[in-house]
Amino acid sequence: MPGDKSISHRAAMMAALAEGRSRIKNYSPSADCAATLSCLQQLGVRIERSGHEVMVHGVGFEDLRSPRAPLDCGNSGTTMRLLAGILAGRNFTSALTGDESLRARPMQRIIEPLLMMGAKISASDGRAPLVIEGRQPLKAITYELLVASAQVKSCILLAALCANGRTEVIENEPTRDHTERMFDWFGIPSETGDAEREGENARFVAVQGPVRFNARNVSIPGDISSAAYFIAAAALLPGSSLEIIDLGINSTRTEFLKQLRSIGFDIEIVNEQMESNEPLGIIRTRGFETSRLKRSGEQFTLEGLTIPQLIDELPLLAVFGSQIEGGIEIRNAAELRVKESDRIATTAQNLRMMGAEVQEFEDGLRLGGPTRLRGATIDPCGDHRIAMAFAVAGLLAEGETEIKDADCVAVSFPEFFELIESVVE
Ligand code: S3P
Repeated sequence: MPGDKSISHRAAMMAALAEGRSRIKNYSPSADCAATLSCLQQLGVRIERSGHEVMVHGVGFEDLRSPRAPLDCGNSGTTMRLLAGILAGRNFTSALTGDESLRARPMQRIIEPLLMMGAKISASDGRAPLVIEGRQPLKAITYELLVASAQVKSCILLAALCANGRTEVIENEPTRDHTERMFDWFGIPSETGDAEREGENARFVAVQGPVRFNARNVSIPGDISSAAYFIAAAALLPGSSLEIIDLGINSTRTEFLKQLRSIGFDIEIVNEQMESNEPLGIIRTRGFETSRLKRSGEQFTLEGLTIPQLIDELPLLAVFGSQIEGGIEIRNAAELRVKESDRIATTAQNLRMMGAEVQEFEDGLRLGGPTRLRGATIDPCGDHRIAMAFAVAGLLAEGETEIKDADCVAVSFPEFFELIESVVE
């Protein structure tokens, strides 16, 4: 699998802020992670790229240069939200922009904490382009996340590296922890623990700023969110046997696998190891007739605390749910409406095109199963994860499926179609 997209963004940004040269192995080939590299280059960081290997000549915080033009984050929310955290603590003004989809996504969630830290940010209606007038040093804050978002958490933690004092971020619903792990890998102490809040699962992460740190080589595990399409296809196509090696299995990202196993699918993780402070392993999936699943037809429900842990896999899980007895219901997932597309609407609309009956809610959807899908013309609305989820649906459907604007998969996985064609008989 290609290198993990979330971890690649963080590796590149941290390497840029470090003193010295870091080599990143298995860097994600995604357009999103290329956008991060090009923004860092515009900030004066020298980067050499050869295939999946990237050499970053870190400049440290002080030598980041004021960019001559707005930084183009393309389609990448992670690039924009994390870079905003870095730029908030600089002594220059910079602008962040992106494509039409990114310019429609909510940025107030990062603007608010960065304003509290003392940066000045202008945006129209809480959307990009963002103009960031940095402040040196930033003020340390304690901030409770209003939305379960690893991007917001990471934005504040990156800003905290340039703040005077202890910044604490509290999350009531745990989100992916790659930033915390990357801090640790680069030798930056952070403190984590249970937060004194009502919710049982509230956790805090704290960093004492200002922080300076040295370069470190990073090796990126395979992207489990990209692997999910292959795992789902293998699980649902009887007779399949699939092994994926060197895959990231960070527990804040494997909820999708846990859920499939909980309803009886044959998925195992073996040979667990640690690489650059992230766990990786081999995942084996075998496919069989779903009628053999030992379930009594009860509905498969995804809700509550599991949602942030499988947020990127939800469109695929909806397709998956159409194939199992009892169907699926997804709730508490309103965040899907502000991803690269409104993923509740795009998933529901395309499943309907394939013959499924879908009930849409503000925060999720419900569909019955098993449904015999029929081939259709799919409009992914420029959203890579919708295109890939419906490629899997197309494999399961009767007749031909055509995906319009299928190149959008390059946002996370440029080789998706070649690879899926090479493993499906
Ligand atoms: C990401 C976090 C998630 C996820 C996105 C990548 C990250 O977004 O959907 O694809 O790298 O931190 P939110 O944390 O905003 O939900």
